[in-house]
Amino acid sequence: MQHITVVGAGTMGNGIAHVFAMTGYQVQLVDVKQEYLDRALATITKNLDRQVKKEAITEEQKQETLGRINAHTDLGAALADADLVIEAASENEEIKKNLFRTFDEKTKPECILASNTSSISITKIGAVTKRPAQVIGMHFFNPVPVMKLVEIIRGHETSSDVYRTIHELSEKLGKVPVEVQDYPGFVSNRVLMPMINEAVYALMEGVATVESIDTVMKLGMAHPMGPLTLADFIGLDVCLDIMNVLLDGLGDPKYRPCPLLKKMVAAGHLGRKSGKGFYDYSAS
Ligand code: CAA
Repeated sequence: MQHITVVGAGTMGNGIAHVFAMTGYQVQLVDVKQEYLDRALATITKNLDRQVKKEAITEEQKQETLGRINAHTDLGAALADADLVIEAASENEEIKKNLFRTFDEKTKPECILASNTSSISITKIGAVTKRPAQVIGMHFFNPVPVMKLVEIIRGHETSSDVYRTIHELSEKLGKVPVEVQDYPGFVSNRVLMPMINEAVYALMEGVATVESIDTVMKLGMAHPMGPLTLADFIGLDVCLDIMNVLLDGLGDPKYRPCPLLKKMVAAGHLGRKSGKGFYDYSAS
């Protein structure tokens, strides 16, 4: 496996391109607009600079890493030689299904097709291709260069060979892979999102302030970020979408999204990316 194509240059896509290029793979990073790619390359450069400053890598390794990333908007060209495609586009089922139809059409028959989806069924995505045995979930965590976990999701048809290949590849990247079956929210978001949702209920019911809820979880449970800070970091719209996936897929009312979470999303208060969520980021 040599040629990796990452589709989607947002927060997750640029982090995934960063770790593959740093491990020595040739990476094609594709998005629909050049400005998204420029922003992604600026972010990767900033994060590599941070690693140089920490003496985790040398300036030469930084330059080599950047030299392995070819960022452009030509999806067809990026798919032709790919051994592995990792989709990190918007968390929308139709967008992903359309992309996977294109991947299936334009890649070599042996190419593995992976999705970084945080909650959409890998089985459903695989079913739109003629190679569901080669479709798999490769769920990275933000910030990708720092977080050790890769949740590997096996769709109903994913073959054991493909699972093994992706498991070994994740280890090569310095990550710790964990095998998970394809059920709503997988493991990460089935456990994380109800905790965040419950924190929003506690806030809505006046149990404590935003800062107090976060402090309880940080100092009492040693979480690096409190649940409301983390919700702002992930994006409140993403949290709401995932709660709806859990509610629809598992059918248990315990997964109903908190009305305050719905209201904040409706108001456009999506967290860090919109400048306001549970905290105000307008100054940063
Ligand atoms: N790229 C490279 N390195 C980075 C980085 C980045 N984007 N961001 C932080 N770092 C490095 C820093 O250089 C620092 O390195 P050293 O330990 O070598 O000094 C280290 O990470 C810690 O960073 P900071 O000191 O700046 O800040 P911190 O100690 O507050 O840690 C954090 C920041 C790593 C983000 C930490 O707060 C954390 O782990 N938060 C929780 C993150 C989390 O839960 N992520 C998962 C979100 S859910 C998801 O992604 C998937 C989903 O499906 C929703």
